[in-house]
Amino acid sequence: MKDKVVILGVTGGIAAYKAAELVRLLVKGGARVHVIMTKAAQHFVSPLTFQTLSGNPVHTELFNLIEEQEIGHISLAERADLVLIVPATANFIGKLASGIADDLLATTVMATRAPVLLAPAMNTAMYQNPVYRENQEKLLRHGYHFVPPATGMLACGWEGEGKLQEPSVILEEAFNLLSLKDLKGEKVLVTAGPTREELDPIRFFSNYSSGKMGYALARAARRRGAEVTLVTGPVSLEAPWGVDIVRVTSAYEMLDAVLRVFPEMTVVIKTAAVADYRPEERSPGKIKKSETPLTVRLVKNPDILAELGKTKGNRFLVGFAAETGEIGANAPQKLQQKNLDLIVANDVTRAGAGFAVDTNIVTLYFKDGRSEELSLMGKDELADVILDRIVAALGQKREKENG
Ligand code: PMT
Repeated sequence: MKDKVVILGVTGGIAAYKAAELVRLLVKGGARVHVIMTKAAQHFVSPLTFQTLSGNPVHTELFNLIEEQEIGHISLAERADLVLIVPATANFIGKLASGIADDLLATTVMATRAPVLLAPAMNTAMYQNPVYRENQEKLLRHGYHFVPPATGMLACGWEGEGKLQEPSVILEEAFNLLSLKDLKGEKVLVTAGPTREELDPIRFFSNYSSGKMGYALARAARRRGAEVTLVTGPVSLEAPWGVDIVRVTSAYEMLDAVLRVFPEMTVVIKTAAVADYRPEERSPGKIKKSETPLTVRLVKNPDILAELGKTKGNRFLVGFAAETGEIGANAPQKLQQKNLDLIVANDVTRAGAGFAVDTNIVTLYFKDGRSEELSLMGKDELADVILDRIVAALGQKREKENG
């Protein structure tokens, strides 16, 4: 989003207030946001709200002499990298589908060559109305993009389809439209989070993995055009939009889920912190407290990544290594032992690295002996750097294979 020019069009629906949150998220992501409001939208939210959040004047008039001189609707349309319409009413969508450009927003949308993403919000019956459907179909055919509304309680009292999608989902679709599709055609499996190994119905062995690193990779791979399957241990993160998600608890469940999809994958990224051991026995009832010490015998879990390494074929296999020192010795050894193409090593004792934080500090070790030390960065940014290296290595690998 950094320095991308985003035009956010707000039309007249009760969900207009949610567009304010979207402006905040876009600005936080580094975008330069210009808001255009229709007349009806101004009945729901004041332009001042959007002006304050975007840091730019809000545009409302098609023929504003000063604006026309300085910026004008055509200039706004030309400068845009992306146009978002949030919320998009049935009326506005109908106007667009019919080529009516009678206000600043409709004119800008018609005049832009940037991708246009519409987030409809309306009453359920309106959303299901065949006239609306035809209009949406027509716009889809002409290359407009839609974020489907959510289902839930609507402001009009109805319950059903038509609720404006969450701003985080709209933002994800916006990212998606702005991203280079350099992973198109790839099927990427990401594992994330911890596994839990039960001792009894209320206790388990696990670790501090939050899933943040793996979820960031799944989101970024999807944005870059891959079909993504995310096998995830128990975490409290929102499921990434547009990704196939398989939820598991134990290492054995993760193994099963991974083996089921592995044959059709082209890239596998194993971020999950799989428990190496599990209790030999799981008590069917709660283990009672007693005066004598409790001894739990742990037995080894299967090493999922090592299993994949044995039958990896043409697939590109990426492991992570959680180390507490000796990274330079341990990580390349894991790369060899598990037959990987790349291993991402983090020293989880360093501040800002490893488990449960939003940032990471990693060194990449490649199969050909190269290594690359990266500095502290956000997990979202790091996900893109890792994918950049995977895209480059895949290109070289395929070039070699094709002679
Ligand atoms: O989830 P976050 O809070 O964002 O934290 C991110 C992270 C610290 C979990 C991540 O950056 C990380 O280091 N993941 C790997 C954790 C780990 O299990 O490391 P390892 O060195 O024990 O295992 C090496 C590789 O083998 C890993 O890819 C792991 O998924 C895999 N493995 C390990 C054991 C096992 N039984 N099966 C496996 O597949």
